[in-house]
Amino acid sequence: MSTNHFLQFRDFSREVYDYLFARTRVIKERFKRYEPYHPLADRTLVMIFEKASTRTRLSFEAGMQQLGGAAIYMNTRDSQLGRGEPVEDAAQVISRMCDLVMIRTFEQDIVERFAQNSRVPVVNGLTNEYHPCQILADIYTYIEHRGPITGKTVAWIGDSNNMCNTWLQAAEVLDFNVHVSTPPGYEVEADRAGLHGTGHFEQFTDPMEACRGASLVTSDVWTSMGFEAENEERRQAFADWCVDAEMMSIAAPDAVYMHCLPAHRGEEVTAEVIDGKQSVVWDEAENRLHAQKALMEYLLLGQL
Ligand code: CP
Ligand code: NVA
Repeated sequence: MSTNHFLQFRDFSREVYDYLFARTRVIKERFKRYEPYHPLADRTLVMIFEKASTRTRLSFEAGMQQLGGAAIYMNTRDSQLGRGEPVEDAAQVISRMCDLVMIRTFEQDIVERFAQNSRVPVVNGLTNEYHPCQILADIYTYIEHRGPITGKTVAWIGDSNNMCNTWLQAAEVLDFNVHVSTPPGYEVEADRAGLHGTGHFEQFTDPMEACRGASLVTSDVWTSMGFEAENEERRQAFADWCVDAEMMSIAAPDAVYMHCLPAHRGEEVTAEVIDGKQSVVWDEAENRLHAQKALMEYLLLGQL
């Protein structure tokens, strides 16, 4: 059986994203009107977490319930997953008992191997390499506030992490540009980002130059989950990669600021920016719910 998975942003075409953004809008509007909508009645989502989460767990769990289905939370602490059961075996068993699986884990290879052995669709809820559900919600949020993202410039300030890699893939699929500025030694590795080299991104040593003219400025924690041992070293290396009012002032006048959250005010962004007028971070967080409901509906029912 060929199964549709969402493991990296490039797994879907532009046409599928256009559909998902349109469905997200419909599903969000229904939710705001308190209209019941239960297309996934009797369907079960299993969520596997090997790392902490607030937004991802809540948006998938609440989203599945709102669509009429059930969601089951599993973690490595109190399941056999943390005791060395092979990923391939876990995938065989778990996917016989549910309709959809979401995994948050370390290496991308783990979700890829799980998907290869799964009878049901698998969604990447964040790996060391990618965070496609977040970028799905982020781009929907941009469209909601400012219209199409095609041809626009996104400035990524900070670590070339899972979020950055996913922005770079999204730029290739949806035809926009990403300006990346990282400290020396933390630059984008095109191979790790899984890029096709279509010329949709440029690296800058100066974060101010990366922000010049950008329609969307975004940053993320300096130390991602799983890299905590590097925390002190990174705090020093990233000190000048804090999005502040000066960086926002060189961006386009109608630029928005995004952060996937959780944020550290005074590190990757100032309080003035993240709590300021250009910030759309609360809509961005809320849109995880609506965008992932559209995603789950699509993976289980196809295009309606
Ligand atoms: N942005 C995001 O994925 O948040 P959580 O880590 O809280 O799920
Ligand atoms: N880059 C961050 C994102 C958290 C949602 C991390 O991986 O920890």
